[in-house]
Amino acid sequence: MRTVSVCVIGMGRAGGLHADIFKSEVPGADLKLVVDQSEKVAREAGERLGVDWAVGQQEAIEREDIQAVVVAVPTSSHVPVVLSALEAGRNVLVEKPLAESLDKGRELAKRADSSESVVQVGYMRRFDGAYRSAKESVEAGRLGKLILYRAIAHDPAPPAGWASDPRSSGGIFYDMLSHDFDMARYIMSSEVVAVNAVGSSILYEDVKSKGDYDVACVQLTFESGAYGYVEGIRRSPYGYDLRTELVGSEATIAVGSMSDNQLTFADSEGVRQSGVKWFMGRFRRAFVEQDRSFIRSILTKTGPEVSVSDGLRAMEIAEACWTSSKELRPISLEALR
Ligand SMILES: NC(=O)c1ccc[n+]([C@@H]2O[C@H](COP(=O)([O-])OP(=O)(O)OC[C@H]3O[C@@H](n4cnc5c(N)ncnc54)[C@H](O)[C@@H]3O)[C@@H](O)[C@H]2O)c1
Repeated sequence: MRTVSVCVIGMGRAGGLHADIFKSEVPGADLKLVVDQSEKVAREAGERLGVDWAVGQQEAIEREDIQAVVVAVPTSSHVPVVLSALEAGRNVLVEKPLAESLDKGRELAKRADSSESVVQVGYMRRFDGAYRSAKESVEAGRLGKLILYRAIAHDPAPPAGWASDPRSSGGIFYDMLSHDFDMARYIMSSEVVAVNAVGSSILYEDVKSKGDYDVACVQLTFESGAYGYVEGIRRSPYGYDLRTELVGSEATIAVGSMSDNQLTFADSEGVRQSGVKWFMGRFRRAFVEQDRSFIRSILTKTGPEVSVSDGLRAMEIAEACWTSSKELRPISLEALR
């Protein structure tokens, strides 16, 4: 079997997870190099994984033996890192969202479109078993006519560091809810044509001072005529609460749960379960399947399962949400194109 040599750039939360997975769980992948701008982070990751490490992206771009690059640097650095990887002829798996603004996302998409490389965007929920089954049921017609998409996304707390600043992350609609926007258009098999969004920062002074929201509610209108509703809250004392419901004329599907049903504690005071801890636990398997799909696309020379154009569509919805919530009016996606 041919192997694809992989480098992961950015060894934080997402990059560390990708590197672990590429090291041992992706047939056809050979993790060769890990890169970070911090020497300490890069060295520790390289030593832990038993692979080469480097500081800064230059080595990943210059090394001829690297065929695929995973870009897991902060969102506002995606564009320069992806562009230089494409320039060097590498295949790229770039974390979501594509960029921190629609203009930058479009710049990246233009370059990706004219490249021969596989460029995949990290909307890994599409590879989750439950969402996959839901999509299969939709395609098999088991829900009848789709009427409503409903998504609950409650994170335990607001993000820290660079991701707390909407100028670096794109804010709640890009950084957090673009996952739900991607899932909405994927699973409903219909494009979002309009949004009506509200948002506020009622919980955290820091979120407010940086111009982001800690609570947002979004109404979606699909091309098919169906409606959608997405709520995002950046506080959840019981854990990572991520649920999606699809309501059809013949059936309803619910994905996700408030609690982690792997452990139930029952006593005279009641029956209790813990909340889901965080995205790495809930979606680890989806990350594995996503990373395998990326390598399969390279080996079989087929298009990625989540394309740059998918990445851009999710960003357009996020951008429309910012405009809608600031101007307090519904926004047609057509007007953004
Ligand atoms: N798919 C998901 O569910 C998911 C989850 C978390 C993060 N992400 C995405 O992954 C990306 C990274 O987020 P994170 O939470 O892992 O961030 P992080 O802050 O935990 O890690 C980023 C790492 O990149 C390094 N870095 C910064 N600039 C660099 C550069 N130019 N070259 C090399 N290294 C650089 C930093 O030193 C840091 O170690 C973001 O785009 C984020 O949206 C996706």
